[in-house]
Amino acid sequence: IKHIGIFTSGGDSPGMNAALYSIAKSAKVKGIKISGFRKGYEGLIDGDFLTLKSHDLQKLVHLGGTILKTARSKRFMELEGRKKAFQTLKANKIDALIAIGGDGTFKGLLAFSEICDIPFIGIPGTIDNDLAGTDYTLGFDSAVNTAIENIDKIRDTAESHNRVFIVEVMGRDSGYIGIHSGLTVGADAILIPESGKDLIYLLEKIKNYESEDAFLVVVSEGDEIGAELVASKIKEMNPNVDLRITKLGHVQRGGNPSALDRMLGIRMGVAAVEEILKGNTNKMVGFLNNQLKLTPFNKVVKQHQIKDELNRLLELFSK
Ligand code: F6P
Repeated sequence: IKHIGIFTSGGDSPGMNAALYSIAKSAKVKGIKISGFRKGYEGLIDGDFLTLKSHDLQKLVHLGGTILKTARSKRFMELEGRKKAFQTLKANKIDALIAIGGDGTFKGLLAFSEICDIPFIGIPGTIDNDLAGTDYTLGFDSAVNTAIENIDKIRDTAESHNRVFIVEVMGRDSGYIGIHSGLTVGADAILIPESGKDLIYLLEKIKNYESEDAFLVVVSEGDEIGAELVASKIKEMNPNVDLRITKLGHVQRGGNPSALDRMLGIRMGVAAVEEILKGNTNKMVGFLNNQLKLTPFNKVVKQHQIKDELNRLLELFSK
């Protein structure tokens, strides 16, 4: 292996630049050239890439986002797009690929492996923490830290006015950001997509709310719930309630990565290069039970279950 291609794909997440730095550094030590493709699979299709130097990346390790830019590519879903990407790799003598992204990114690589037989290794990068095969995805910890920093501020004003505040956090259909941020800000209610019962708990709890106190609800976004629905249910019950909604939105995707995310990026980056050199392919480097672990791409499905212990906490703190 003399030349590795890398790219970031799907939603950006804090820690991606740390992983890029780590890959470039460990490749340099091993005498391997690194090319970074811009805008995820789009760069592979268009042959849009640059040589990455670990010295330059070293200065960017603290930055959120991804310096390679990212995209969710429709063209790569078509065989035609994948064939073009294959031509790019062949023409530039790239003999392995490392992708940082979510389950869609890894599904793309699996499809690609049908026509391209170089090794592929993945690193989980998404704030949603919704992947099997890892306890933490790159960016999740930073997103939770951003969420709690903001919710703490909302509490100040909520307490001053004795208001009901519904704060919506990201996660797509995963409640991990919701649970972690809700528990650590001392929310009165936490609603996540994975649990069917929590709206009932909330309504039960808020029945006796008599506006002599603040009431803080953290709700995950999702098709089934979301801030508006929760607000409308509360208003149905108590039309005079003094209620405000705050959607934290994309602020959760940005900002400097936390120490945990930087360290994850560094460890996963080094491991990704090592696994390629060991001959592994179509696997994701995850962090499970405090250890780096490989999981085949076809097992890296979206996780729609919250771990038992967290579920118990959720129930306990809903009472
Ligand atoms: O997957 C990361 C994520 O931030 C989700 O939490 C959110 O639902 C989605 O991406 C937002 O996507 P976009 O940036 O395309 O609006």
